[in-house]
Amino acid sequence: MKRVTLKMDTERKISRIAPEIYGHFSEHLGRCIYKGIYVGEDSEIPNVKGMRKGVVEALKEIKLPVLRWPGGCFADEYHWKDGIGPRQQRKQIVNTNWGGVVENNAFGTHEFMELCEQIGCEPYIALNLGSGTVQEAAEWIEYMTYDGGSELAKLRAANGHEEPWKVKYLGIGNESWGGGGSMRPEFYADTYRRYRTFCRDLSGNKLFPIACGPNADDYNWTDRIMPLLKWHTKAIALHYYTIPTGNWEHKGSSTEFDEQEYYQTIRQALRIEEIIDRHLTIMDYHDPEQKVSLVVDEWGTWYDVEPGTNPGFLYQQNTMRDAIVAAIHLNIFNKHSDRIIMANIAQTVNVLQAMILTEGKDMVKTPTYEVFAMYRDHQGATQIDSVLDTEYTGIGEISVPALSESVSVSENADGEEFVHITLSNASLTESCEVYLQLPANQEFTGTAEFSLLTNEVNAYNSFEEPERVKRQIGNEEWYGNRTSVTLPPCSVYSATCKIRKFDCKCE
Ligand code: AHR
Repeated sequence: MKRVTLKMDTERKISRIAPEIYGHFSEHLGRCIYKGIYVGEDSEIPNVKGMRKGVVEALKEIKLPVLRWPGGCFADEYHWKDGIGPRQQRKQIVNTNWGGVVENNAFGTHEFMELCEQIGCEPYIALNLGSGTVQEAAEWIEYMTYDGGSELAKLRAANGHEEPWKVKYLGIGNESWGGGGSMRPEFYADTYRRYRTFCRDLSGNKLFPIACGPNADDYNWTDRIMPLLKWHTKAIALHYYTIPTGNWEHKGSSTEFDEQEYYQTIRQALRIEEIIDRHLTIMDYHDPEQKVSLVVDEWGTWYDVEPGTNPGFLYQQNTMRDAIVAAIHLNIFNKHSDRIIMANIAQTVNVLQAMILTEGKDMVKTPTYEVFAMYRDHQGATQIDSVLDTEYTGIGEISVPALSESVSVSENADGEEFVHITLSNASLTESCEVYLQLPANQEFTGTAEFSLLTNEVNAYNSFEEPERVKRQIGNEEWYGNRTSVTLPPCSVYSATCKIRKFDCKCE
C-alpha cells in the first residue's frame, strides 16, 4: 500500500467555488429531454407538469445549480417561437443533428423554465447564432424577461406565464468554430457583438453573456477572440470531451475496455488541466485584469454508442471509470475556481456522461451521479491551499498521477467552520493511505461524515442491478491535526469534518 500526505491549510483561502461549477447541460438530443426529463403530463410515469418526478428529485438531491438548454448543436437550429403556445399546434421539425427524428417542440421555453423552477436551478439559455437572426434572439429575451405591456410580454401571459422570468446566463454561440456556423474567429466575434448589442437587460433582468470559446486545445481561437470580445463578454466557454482513444471514429466502448484503454482515458481526462491553464494564460495576456472568466460549457466522456441504439442519440453506459473521470475534473475545476465560474457536464439524462439513465418508467443513477452527490458540499464553499505528493500509476508507457484532490471550507450559521475533502484514486491495483495533515494551529474536531465509492472499474448500474455502484456513507471521529484515510484501488472519497483553530506558539 502506498502512503502519501495531503497537506491543507484552512487559513490559506484561495477562491470561492461557484456552485455553477457543478452545472449540467441538457439538449434536445436522443432521450435527454423527451422520455428522459420530460414525459408529458398524460404519462403514466409519475410527473409534475410533465417533468419526470424521479429525475427532478434526483437532480435536486445533488443541488443542480444551473442547466444549459436547448443545445448544443440543436440550439443553432432552434427557433423559440416553434416551442410556445398550445402543444398540438406547435411546429414539427426535423432534428437534423441528432438522428433526423421529428422534434415536436412539446418542450419549449415555458417547459424549460418550469423544469428549472422545479429543480431550483438557474436557467442558461443558448441562443441560435447559426441559423437564427438577431431579431429572433432579441425577441426571445423580451418574451422571457420583459415586465410590461409589449406584444411579446402579452403573448407570454396568454401562454400561461404572466410574470416575466429572470434569465441570467446567456450563451451567445455554440461551437461557432464548427457545427455552429464554421465561423472564423473575427467573423464570430463581430457576430457575437451584434447579438450582444440587441439582447438587452430589460425590467431589471441582468444578462450574463457567455461567448463561444475554444474547442479543446485550439489556442488560436482564444488568442483571436479575446482582444475583440474582452469588453463585451463576461466569459468564454471551452468545450472538452474525454475520448479514450482520442479518435472520433472509434472512441471505444463505455463498458468493454481493458487496462490500457482505461489508463488512456484517465490520461485524456487529465489533459483538461493543461488545456485550462494554457487558455487562461492567453486570456490573461489580453485581459490582465481578469475581467473575463472561463466556463467549461461541455465536458465529460464520449464513447461509441451502446450497441443497437440510434447512433444519433449518443446513449452510453457509465462505469466506475466515469466516476474517476468526473472526480478528476471536479477537483481540477475546484482548484481553478478563481477563474472558472461555471462548468456543465454533458448531458444530464440518457446522453453521454449522464447522471441518470431511463428505460420506460425505470431509472438508474449512474456512478457519475454518485460523485456529484459526494462533491456537493464544495458548492459555494471556499477552496483552500492543499498539496498532495501523489504517486504515479499506469500501464506500459502510460503513466498518470494516481490521486487527485481538492479541499474547501465553509461556515455554518453559528460560525463553525467545516472542511470538505474530496479525493480519487485512479490506480487499478494499489490502495493508498492518505494522511490528512492540518497545520499545528488547526485541528479536526468531531464526527467526520464520509462517503466512499469503489467497485470494479467497469462496474455500472443497470436496470437489473440499479445499485451495484453506490456510495457507502459512514462517519468516524477525527481529532487532532492529522488523521488518515485509505483509498482502495479505483475509488472516490469525500469527507466533511468540523475544524477548530487556536493560538499556538509553534510555527
Ligand atoms: O453534447 C453533444 C454535442 O457535442 C453538442 O451538441 C455540441 O455542442 C458538441 O459538439
